[in-house]
This record gives sequence, structure tokens and C-alpha cells, in this order.
Amino acid sequence: MSKYSEELRATAKAMVAKGKGILAMDESNGTCNKRFQKLGIPATEEYRQMYRTLILTTPNLADYVSGPILYDETIRQTTPEGVSLLAVIKEAGMIPGIKVDTGAKELAGHTDEKVTEGLDDLRDRLAEYYKMGARFAKWRAVITIGNNIPSKGCIEANAHSLARYAALCQECGLVPIVEPEVLIDGDHTLQKCWDVTDATLHEVFKQLHAQSVAYDQMILKPSMVIAGKDCPQQTSVEDVAEATISCLLKNVPATVAGIAFLSGGQSMQQSSAHLNEMNKRFGDQCPWPVTFSYARAIQQPALDHWSGHKANIAEAQSRLLKRAQCNSAASRGEYSAEMEKELAIA
Ligand code: 13P
Repeated sequence: MSKYSEELRATAKAMVAKGKGILAMDESNGTCNKRFQKLGIPATEEYRQMYRTLILTTPNLADYVSGPILYDETIRQTTPEGVSLLAVIKEAGMIPGIKVDTGAKELAGHTDEKVTEGLDDLRDRLAEYYKMGARFAKWRAVITIGNNIPSKGCIEANAHSLARYAALCQECGLVPIVEPEVLIDGDHTLQKCWDVTDATLHEVFKQLHAQSVAYDQMILKPSMVIAGKDCPQQTSVEDVAEATISCLLKNVPATVAGIAFLSGGQSMQQSSAHLNEMNKRFGDQCPWPVTFSYARAIQQPALDHWSGHKANIAEAQSRLLKRAQCNSAASRGEYSAEMEKELAIA
């Protein structure tokens, strides 16, 4: 048992407190730059600093977001005025989190499949992040659906790494966000996604158990069960909610502290509607809080509007807040399409 157990339990609970979710803003420099370049924003540290400052200084963000997931560059950064971003987060009453994997790399012997790396020196890195003030961490594993994939070898390797990472986090006082993402890319059906998610979650919890991970001191960040982006038979909000919850109920122990979904390339409205439907229809049956840990589905309108211009900051922040409000409502089962209009920016 971790000497931090009590603290970990309290942190995990606060991360998924009623009406709150997690804001993923832990894009690596490469990913962040790619998103900047699409909008003509200079891909420099200075602009990443401005953008991350914009997000974290959004007024009232903490009413809807329990904590942000940061990238290593960001956790060491200040605002352009020189205030540490960690201090900004704490001042707002949010909990700082940190991405600790070093990315998904090609899995040897398995064409088109990946395994997430980052276990080397992880104990030392976690100790440093804890000392800095981070209280939770994230590790993302990627499972691809395609011709004869995912393989058993890929699911096992990723689940094993997730479990090793989670155990180390708990030893070091950080709540692990365990993120096995089944990608939305491809033309697979909803049923195929259900089967792959089922096999993945089953293996993830088998490995977490083998590594003595305490379920009440971790958060699961799954993808929703949904038809592939290019599947001719797209699915209804009701289908996605039902399939996702049934898969989670089958595989996720009741003592897990919370579920916080990734958006995975779904539209912003879809991400809110799916989360809402799950809570509205199945909230009573779920033993864990079900909320969001979105990146694109919260940030995109703010990034688009900002586009690197100082004059656009306030409006970009209000667009960010609107997505946080919609998703907070969805986590309570109180989101509606009308909310999109009511909160519409004049
Ligand atoms: P998206 O919500 O954009 O999928 O990102 C969530 C995340 O943190 C991926 O690791």
C-alpha cells in the first residue's frame, strides 16, 4: 500500500467531483506546433507560452474543471509576465496534472501497431513532478482497429506498461490517469469497437490487478464505443451511450474512483451529447462518476479564435469557458442542444 493512499484517494475524488472534469492541454511540442501551423500561428515556445497562459487564466474555469493536464514544458513555464503557471493553477483552486509518457512508438514485430514508451527513469521523473506540486499523471496507450489488428501482443504490451506506470504513480503520490484509447480512425462498426474496447479493458484491469494498483486511487480515461469515422453506418447518441456504458459496466471494477473520457476526434457537440446521454440514462446504474477529460473538444474554438493575436484573448477565453460549461452540464446529465445557443457568443 502506498504511503500516499489517503492523499491519492482524496485527489482522485476531487478530480471527478460533481459537475467537474479534467482539461487535457498536454499536447507535446510537436502536436501543439502542428495545430498552430494549421492556423498560421508561429510554432515557437513564446506562442505556446501565450496559449497555455490564455487557457489557464480563463476566468471561472475552476467552476467546471478540476485540473489541467500539462506537458513538461508547460509545468516549468511562467505567464509572459513571469508568474509560474503552477501558481496560477493553484491560485484558481485547480489541481495540476502532468503527462508522463514519452509517446506511442512502433511496436516491434507488429506492423501498424504501437506501444507507448516512458517507463525508463519514470520513478525519478514522478518524484520531481510531485515535488513541483503535480498531483496526478497521464499515460496514453493507443489501440488501432484495422485488418487483423489489434493483436493480442499489442493489447498486452500496452496494458502491461499502463499498469507499471500506474503502480509507480501511486508509489510516488500521483493519481494515475490510465488511458487506453481505441482509435476512432477506420471504417469499423460500433460492434467491432465494442469488442476491441472489451478486450482492451479486460486486459488493462488484469494487468492493473497484477501490479497491485489500487482502483480507488486511479482514474480511467477510456474512449467511447463508437463506429469508426469512415464507417458507412454511423451511430446515434443513444447507441453510443448504451454500448459504452455496457462495456464499462462489464469491465471496470466498481471501486475505480472515476471515469473521464477523451474526445478522440469527435465533434464538440457529439462529445457533449454522448457524455450527457450516458449520465442522463445510465447515471443511476454507474458505480463511478462519469465525466470528461477532453483536449480538442474543449480547446478547439478558443485556439481557432485566438489564432495567435493578443486582441482575441478575452473572446477566446469565453469560447473555452463555454465548452467547459457544456461538458460540465453533460457530466450531470443536464446538457441540451439549446445550451449551445443560449451560451452562443454574440
Ligand atoms: P482529445 O480529447 O483531443 O482526444 O484528447 C484527450 C487526450 O488527452 C488524449 O490523450
